[in-house]
Parts: sequence; structure tokens; C-alpha cells
Amino acid sequence: MKLWGGRFTKETNQLVHNFNESLSFDQKFYRQDIRGSIAHVTMLAKQGILSQEDKDAIVNGLEGILTDIEEGRLAIEAGAEDIHSFVEEKLTERIGEAGKRLHTGRSRNDQVALDMKLYTRDQVKEMDHLLYALLQELLKVMEENLDTFMPGFTHLQKAQPITLAHHIGAYFEMFSRDRSRLHDIYERMNYCPLGSGALAGTTYPLDRAYTAELLDFYGPTLNSMDSVADRDYLLELLGAMSIIAMHLSRFCEEIIIWNTNEYRFVEIDDSYSTGSSIMPQKKNPDIAELIRGKTGRVYGAMVSLLTTMKGLPLAYNKDMQEDKELTFDAMDTVKGCILLFTGMISSMTFRKDVMEASAKNGFTNATDAADYLVKHGVPFRDAHGIVGQLVLFCIDRGIALDDMSLEEFKAISPVFEEDIYEAISMKTCVEKRITIGAPGEAAMKQVIEVYKKQLAEKTGL
Ligand code: ARG
Repeated sequence: MKLWGGRFTKETNQLVHNFNESLSFDQKFYRQDIRGSIAHVTMLAKQGILSQEDKDAIVNGLEGILTDIEEGRLAIEAGAEDIHSFVEEKLTERIGEAGKRLHTGRSRNDQVALDMKLYTRDQVKEMDHLLYALLQELLKVMEENLDTFMPGFTHLQKAQPITLAHHIGAYFEMFSRDRSRLHDIYERMNYCPLGSGALAGTTYPLDRAYTAELLDFYGPTLNSMDSVADRDYLLELLGAMSIIAMHLSRFCEEIIIWNTNEYRFVEIDDSYSTGSSIMPQKKNPDIAELIRGKTGRVYGAMVSLLTTMKGLPLAYNKDMQEDKELTFDAMDTVKGCILLFTGMISSMTFRKDVMEASAKNGFTNATDAADYLVKHGVPFRDAHGIVGQLVLFCIDRGIALDDMSLEEFKAISPVFEEDIYEAISMKTCVEKRITIGAPGEAAMKQVIEVYKKQLAEKTGL
């Protein structure tokens, strides 16, 4: 059934139908479409626009369609133009005349705007819950690794000693901001477009506030043209999802490096690794690589919709149908990535001994050796030069700063005394960094308390 055959004298060309149809992808929101229709007729009946009888028949019919789809008795098969036509057609088949009254005071433009918003709102909630679970997992790793020393890097060169808790904490911050972005999007998008009609509202005495309330929105949108033409919330979400994907990708990149034979900082669990068909020794970090790789399609969806929207005059244009396929793909992709990433992290082994040995062997305590000299009156620039000589000396012999004898230290600068060993020990280097945000255990413990409180307060949308 078409919703618009009246003024046409010819059948639609089959290729045109195929090109125009959206049922193949907008069936994803059949639940939201039915929920929106139930709210709409409930409001129509309250306003006396639809009889109580018709309303009851429509609601029963729609509920029947919903359970039949859910329980596999009704298949959404090709034929109808979109999910809106499909549901209306089935309803009329089932309940007759009353079904034809469903679309009173509504256009597919405000209907699709509503459906997409309801669907997206659910997706935002799901993503928030997935990020919450990831943050809890990260917090667990942090608490277990407050004194797991490892090298911190700049330019991918060993720089200064940190702890695994501190490194993971950086990602905790990123994913917390991601959650916060989702919460912002939810706040801004949570207004109901239904009742905006095609573009200019309707002449029926609709109670839009009531419809909004029935659908758990904060209230109705305030401009009917904007309501049917706004896709900002999708762009915001695509932006937020792109950032989530980028964060996951950065973390995966590190895990891939840490998992190499050269680093061996971590071991990805067998259950999250794959093998090679030819090289028997291989255990590949495919999941981390795939998550890193999937970032591209999420960015692609964002750029695609931004481009679709950029030249559109008000109000609705069919171009907007292009807001769905890639956005749905991005939503499924990002949810899958967060879920798989959480599983990979929670089953991964962190090799504390290898990390600590790596921090020791990379002169990550060189800054602390220079600070030691400064505390004994040497100007920092001179101290920098002296420690540079120490490092050269060690490189020649293949040893760490800690392995030098006191005589060797003194030969380069007489300022060094026995307490240099304590001053440049990994423990001292990290534990002295106690300003908030630094890796020292005292500072980290304070921060972890804040994180725990945040998670307790913001359990989920
Ligand atoms: N499938 C359409 C979309 O996704 C539904 C709205 C159709 N409205 C119209 N005026 N043709 O945008």
C-alpha cells in the first residue's frame, strides 16, 4: 500500500521504488514507530479528534502488530515504501476503517523525525551503559596497579616513570568525557517533534505537550519547520561516537605495541586473540586491530551526514533519508567496539615485572637525577649536562643509572652522595610526584575516590 497514490495515474517504476524505499533499513525502528503511533492516537482521543472506540481499536491493532513482529509471526518483508507505510498497511488490514484514521494530524515528516529520535535516544542510553561498564573495568585495573611501575612515553621514547594505574587513568578521563558528551546530547535532543506535521503544524487542536509527556520527552519542540529538518542531534552523536572510536583506537594501538614480543607488557588472552594460517607461532591482536580499523567507518558516517545536510533548504527534503544507514552502522559499530574492548581488557594479563624492568632500563629516572643535583645547589642547566654524561657512560656499558658505583657517579660530579640511589629509585621517582593528577600513590588514591563517586552518582542515563 502506498500512502500517496491519489494524484498519480501511473504505477511507480520498479527501479524508482527500489531507489526510493527505506523499509530495508528503517524497519530497525518498528518499535519506536508503533510506540509513537500509540502516543499520537492517545492524544487524538483525549482531544476529541478521534473517538475512544477508534483509538482502542488502533492501539489494540498496533500492540498486536508489535507482538507479532517480536514473536516472529509477522515478517517485515519488501513491498512497502517504509516502516511507516508497512505498519499502517498491516493495521488497516487487521482492523479496517479505524486504521485509516491513524495518520490524522500527522505527516511522515514529523513521524520519521520522531522515530529516529526515539531510536537514537535508546542508542545513547545503551552506549552510556557500555561506557559505564568499561569505566568500572578500568577502575578495577587502576586499583590493582597503583604501584606497578612502567615507563611513561613521549615521542614513543621512554620518558619518565609512571604507574600502570596512572596510564589507565588517562583513558578513564577520556571515556568519562565521552559519557559526559552523551549526557549533553541527551539533554539537548530530548524534545518531541511529533505534531509538527509536514512543516507548518496542523489545524487540529493537538496537545503536543501531552504527546511529549507520553513519550518521556522534556516537552515539545518549539518550531515545526526546525522539528522536521533538524538532524543536529545525529551529527552531535556521530561526533561523540567518532571521539569514542578515536579513544578506543589509541588505546588499541598501545595494546598492540605492548603485546608485541619486543615489549611484552601485556598478554592478550587466548580467547581474544587469533592465529595465523601459515605461521604456527603467531598469536595476533586482531580484536585490537579491528577496533582501531573500524574508526574509519564511524568518521565516514559523520562526514557523510554533515555533507548531506550542508545544502538543504528548509524544511524536509528526501536527502534526509540518508541520515539512517551509515548512522545505524556507526551506532552498531561503536557499541560492538566498546563491548569487545571491555572484554579484551578484563581478560588481559598485565606483566608487572616486564613493565618495571623496562622503566629501569630506559633512563626514565634521568630527570630525577638532575633534580637531585639541583637540590644540592647545581643550576638546572648544568645538572642536565651532567646527567647527560651519566647516561652516555651507562649506554657505553649497557647498564642503568642505578647500576653505577658511587665512585663512578662522583667521577662525573662530586656532588653525588650515597643517597643518590634512593633518590633515583623507581619507587621514589613515582611516589614523590604527589601533585593532583600525577602518578604518586597518594595523588592517585585521591583521584580514584573522585572517580568512584562519579560512577556512583552517574550510574546511567
Ligand atoms: N523514509 C523517509 C525518510 O526517512 C520518511 C519521510 C518521508 N517523507 C516524505 N515527505 N517523503 O526521510
